[in-house]
Amino acid sequence: MTQDAFAFLANRQSYPSKALQAPAPDRTALEPILQAALRVPDHGNLQPWRLVVGYRKALSAWADIGEARAKALGDDPVRIEKGRGQFDRSHCAVVVIGSPKPADKVPEIEQTLSAGALCLNLVNAATAAGWGAQWLTGWVSHDRAFITRAFGCAPQEWVAGIVHIGTKGAPAPDRPRPDLAQVVTWE
Ligand SMILES: Cc1cc2nc3c(=O)[nH]c(=O)nc-3n(C[C@H](O)[C@H](O)[C@H](O)COP(=O)(O)O)c2cc1C
Repeated sequence: MTQDAFAFLANRQSYPSKALQAPAPDRTALEPILQAALRVPDHGNLQPWRLVVGYRKALSAWADIGEARAKALGDDPVRIEKGRGQFDRSHCAVVVIGSPKPADKVPEIEQTLSAGALCLNLVNAATAAGWGAQWLTGWVSHDRAFITRAFGCAPQEWVAGIVHIGTKGAPAPDRPRPDLAQVVTWE
C-alpha cells in the first residue's frame, strides 16, 4: 500500500477559486502537472480532449468575451458578472475541452467520461504539487458562441471544465462527504 498516495486521495479537496492568490504555476511548474493529469483512462487511446492554458492576458480576453456575450444575450448584471468573474479573479486557468474522435468501438459517452476524469486528475495533480485548484464551469462553458470565440472550439467540441490553479490562502473548510451507507450496496 502506498500510504502517502492513499492519504492524499482520502483527504483531497478542491480549494475555492475565489480565494486563490498569485503566484500561479508558470509553464515550467505546470508542464509536469499537465503531464501527470494526462495519464487518464482513455478507451482506445483516442485522446478525446485537449487543453488550453490561460494566463493573465488570455484571461482578460476571455473575461471581455464573456461580458460581451452576456450583453449580446441581454443578460442581467449577475450573469454579466459571472461571464467575466472567474477569469478576472484567476491567475491561471486550464480549460479542458472534450474533443470527441470518430471511433466504431468507443461510444461518445466513454470519451466524455475520459474528459471528466481528466478534469479531476488535473485538480488532483495540481493539489498534490502543493497548489490550490478548483474545477468550474458556469454558463460560459455551455455557450457555443463563447467557447468558439474564446477557446476556438470546433462544432463537435465542448468544455468539460475550467480548472483554476493558484496559491492557497487561508485553509478552506471541507464540505460534507458522502455516507457510504447511503450510496453503496453490497451484494
Ligand atoms: C462538472 C463540474 C462543474 C462544476 N462547476 C462549478 C461551478 O461552475 N461553480 C462552482 O462553484 N463549483 C463548481 N463545481 C464544483 C467545484 O468543483 C467544487 O469545488 C467541488 O464540488 C468541491 O469538491 P471537492 O472538494 O471534492 O473537489 C463543479 C463541479 C463539477 C464536477
